[in-house]
Amino acid sequence: MNVTQPDERVAIHLDVNGSPEEVFVSPRLTLADALREKLGLTGTKLGCEQGVCGACTVLLDGQPARACLLLAVQASGRSVQTVEGLSQGPSLTRLQQSFQRHHALQCGFCTAGFLMTSSALLQDNAAPQREEIRQAISGNICRCTGYETIIDAVADVGAVAPEDGHREEPGSGDQWADSARAGHEHVDEEVAQ
Ligand code: FES
Ligand code: FES
Repeated sequence: MNVTQPDERVAIHLDVNGSPEEVFVSPRLTLADALREKLGLTGTKLGCEQGVCGACTVLLDGQPARACLLLAVQASGRSVQTVEGLSQGPSLTRLQQSFQRHHALQCGFCTAGFLMTSSALLQDNAAPQREEIRQAISGNICRCTGYETIIDAVADVGAVAPEDGHREEPGSGDQWADSARAGHEHVDEEVAQ
């Protein structure tokens, strides 16, 4: 039997935001750490690291998943979408624009997780009711907003039937747009220390 030693690196293959990636990881490395440390995708945040807060939510084969609870090797051969993959270049999605418009973020630490959870909801249900939104985001914690503005933002997207994958024209470039795109990188840098 071929037994992998704990400190041995193994090659995994991921489709990350539409790009094939080969990454060498410790078998114990979480998907969240692999995304952040191996691929530099620091939009995925780490809060509780025990599956409670939802800050680390990514889409695994299109479904929301806690990247802190998954080993990177468990994601091998699968598709991973992070918050960086929502927009293309300077183009914000409708959802991101709506978060900006409704002030659905303050510190922004939870935002990537909410965006990923909400985008999955909108893929399945283009016009969710507020209670459906509330239920969908119930696994994501925000310490700042009180949730109502987040629900407003998601509901607003649902109220306008999307035809372009929830994508908008290039953003305004202001602080809210930048935060909605990938979370607050300055916060991330502090947390990553
Ligand atoms: S960091 Fe993964 S659920 Fe909190
Ligand atoms: S905006 Fe600060 S935790 Fe949600």
